[in-house]
Amino acid sequence: MMELNGKTVVLTGASGGIGSALALEFCAEGAQVIAVGRRPAALEALRQRAAGRPGRLQPLVADINCARDRARIAEVATAPDALIHAAALGSFGLFVNSEAGEREAMFHTNVLAPMALTQALLPALLKRPESRVLAVGSTFGSLAHPGFAAYSASKFALRGFIEALGREHADSGLVAQWIAPRATDTAFNPPNVVALNKALGTHVDAVDEVAAQIVHALRAGTRRRQLGWPEKLFAWLNGAFPTLVDRGLRSALPVVRTHAAVDRRPSLPPKSFAAAPSPAQVTPAFDRRTAPTPTSSVIRPLAEGTAPTPEPRSPAPQSVSELGQC
Ligand SMILES: NC(=O)c1ccc[n+]([C@@H]2O[C@H](COP(=O)([O-])OP(=O)(O)OC[C@H]3O[C@@H](n4cnc5c(N)ncnc54)[C@H](OP(=O)(O)O)[C@@H]3O)[C@@H](O)[C@H]2O)c1
Repeated sequence: MMELNGKTVVLTGASGGIGSALALEFCAEGAQVIAVGRRPAALEALRQRAAGRPGRLQPLVADINCARDRARIAEVATAPDALIHAAALGSFGLFVNSEAGEREAMFHTNVLAPMALTQALLPALLKRPESRVLAVGSTFGSLAHPGFAAYSASKFALRGFIEALGREHADSGLVAQWIAPRATDTAFNPPNVVALNKALGTHVDAVDEVAAQIVHALRAGTRRRQLGWPEKLFAWLNGAFPTLVDRGLRSALPVVRTHAAVDRRPSLPPKSFAAAPSPAQVTPAFDRRTAPTPTSSVIRPLAEGTAPTPEPRSPAPQSVSELGQC
C-alpha cells in the first residue's frame, strides 16, 4: 500500500467531476495535489474546499494539449509520486456524422497529451522508490459501444499505452494503472447521454464512490480494474466472447440511434491537418459550452484569496491547429 500522506500527486482534470472528488480525497489523505485544469475559478473553488484538510491543493491552470503548459507542469512537479490522468473529452453520436476535428481533439486530449505529459514526468517519477501513473479509463476502453466510436477508440488507445508503460517499467518502482469507471454522475455526460443511460438501464455511479475506489486502487497499486457490476463481466466477456456482446449491443441499436439524433451539434465544415482554420476562424458558437478557450500560455497557481466566480466549461478544441495554439 502506498502511504499518501506527504506524497505529491499531479492530477489532470482536477476541475472536473471525478477529478475534483479525487483531489479532495487526496487532500484528506495528506497528499500535496498539483491540481491541473483549464478553468481558474473552478480550481480556486476546489482549493477553498480542500482548505482545512491535512494535505494541500495547488491549482495549476494549464491546457494539457499545449507543449509549453506540459513543460511548466513538469517544472512545478519536481518530485511527483503519482501522475493521475483524469482529463478527457467525450462525445456521443453516430460515427457517420462525426467531425474529423472533433476526433483529432479527442485523440490529442485523451491519448497524445497524457502520453506526452507522462514522458515529461517519467524521469522524476522513476527517481522515487515507489510511484504511480494512473489513467482514469472507461468501460468503453474495453468494450467499444455504438454511438461512442471516437471516445471508445481513444480509451482503447490509452489502455494500450498504460499496459505497455507498466510492462516497460516492470522492474522498477513505477506501477502503471488502468482504473475504469462505468457511467458516473458528472457534467461529462450531456443530456442525451443521461437519457440514453436511463433508456438502456445503465447504472450511474455517484462521483464520490468512484473517487474513493480510484484512490484505493492507487494506494494498492492495482494494475487494472473495471469498476461496477455487471460492467466488469461485460468487459471481460467482450475480450473472451465478443460475438455475445455484439448480439447484446445490436438489440440496443434503435435506442442508441434515437438518442444520438437528439442534441447533435450542427454540422461543422470538415477540418483536416492541411486545411485547419486559424483560431480566429474557429467559432465556438456551435458549442453548448460557449466559453472562450483559455489562453494556455499562462499556467498560474492562483493567488490566495481569489474570489471564485461561476465559470462556463471550456469548449473542446475543434482542430489540430487550434490544439497547437498555446
Ligand atoms: N463521467 C462519466 O460517466 C465517466 C465514465 C467513465 C469514465 N470517465 C472518465 O473519467 C475522467 C473524468 O471525467 P469526468 O466525468 O470528471 O469529466 P468532466 O467533469 O467533464 O471533467 C473533465 C476534465 O478534463 C479537463 N480537460 C479537458 N480537456 C483538457 C485540456 N485540454 N487540458 C486540461 N484539462 C482538460 C477539464 O478541464 P476544464 O473543465 O477546466 O476545461 C475537466 O477538468 C475522464 O477521463 C473520463 O473519460 C467518466
